[in-house]
Amino acid sequence: MTTALVFGGRTGLLGQALMRVLSRAGWQAIPIGRGDVDLLNLEALHQLVAQTQPQVIVNAIAYTAVDRAEDEPQEAWRINTLFPRLLGRAAGDAHLLHVSTDYVFDGRATRPYLPTDPVNPQSVYGRTKLEGEQELLRLGLPRLTIVRTAWLFGPGRTNFITRILELAQQRPVLTVVHDQVGSPTFTQDLAAALLALAKVRAFGLFHAVNAGQASWCELAEEAVRLAGLPTVVQPISSKDYPQRAKRPAYSVLDTAALTAATGITPRSWAIALREYLRSLR
Ligand SMILES: NC(=O)c1ccc[n+]([C@@H]2O[C@H](COP(=O)([O-])OP(=O)(O)OC[C@H]3O[C@@H](n4cnc5c(N)ncnc54)[C@H](OP(=O)(O)O)[C@@H]3O)[C@@H](O)[C@H]2O)c1
Repeated sequence: MTTALVFGGRTGLLGQALMRVLSRAGWQAIPIGRGDVDLLNLEALHQLVAQTQPQVIVNAIAYTAVDRAEDEPQEAWRINTLFPRLLGRAAGDAHLLHVSTDYVFDGRATRPYLPTDPVNPQSVYGRTKLEGEQELLRLGLPRLTIVRTAWLFGPGRTNFITRILELAQQRPVLTVVHDQVGSPTFTQDLAAALLALAKVRAFGLFHAVNAGQASWCELAEEAVRLAGLPTVVQPISSKDYPQRAKRPAYSVLDTAALTAATGITPRSWAIALREYLRSLR
């Protein structure tokens, strides 16, 4: 039986999906969260790996508060950069799959981003996540997979869709930004892609997202429509919705490398969203 350590598996949006998908595949998935290990203590990480002997380690822990990171760059750096480096050093022979973000890009592309495209993060979150990738690459690990993803929704934790549906139940009109376009992604589909990458032992850099693209406004509109709510969703410009951190205007990710390695062709985000909302009912 394959044993996997799932960092973020107790409470994380993706981590919880990974726990379900890996367990269903017959793996022994061990969730690691706050209280299980001191993330910044290399010796403790070494001990955890020695005790559990995982063949696979997935890092779905991150400092994901994109706006707050602008005010807490040190804390974001510790979790998004320093911790991955320490985990990489402690991983031993295990296959380490590390999850990263579309926010490593600046959003000026005119076609979906390839894993090899130049990066240029615009926020503390994006910068610290990119540095996490770079630290891991610098270690020269023989079994390392970095998977960038984007715009996650799924069960188990508040996310953009749950927030929109909550607001839609309270208000007749919602205004949502339309000039940021990305790849909405169901955590269950991402977890399945990570499992597939682990199974075929695909090392390197990949993008894993659902197919298609949407603006936040289009995503909200579709969620409200599928939920059968009468709320009107109106587009607004990012200028009229100031946020602390700068986000890329366009961060659609190209998944051809994932398909080539695993045979998985991601389904569209709209179909995945329908399945997610059905499960909420
Ligand atoms: N969510 C998105 O839209 C999105 C988009 C692109 C990329 N990603 C990437 O996808 C991965 C998973 O994201 P997610 O949305 O699942 O994140 P999430 O729901 O915010 O979960 C993050 C996990 O990290 C844990 N964590 C954070 N700080 C910690 C600390 N100091 N000590 C111990 N645990 C800590 C959290 O534990 P607590 O619950 O105890 O805080 C939680 O389990 C991340 O690498 C993220 O950068 C996410």
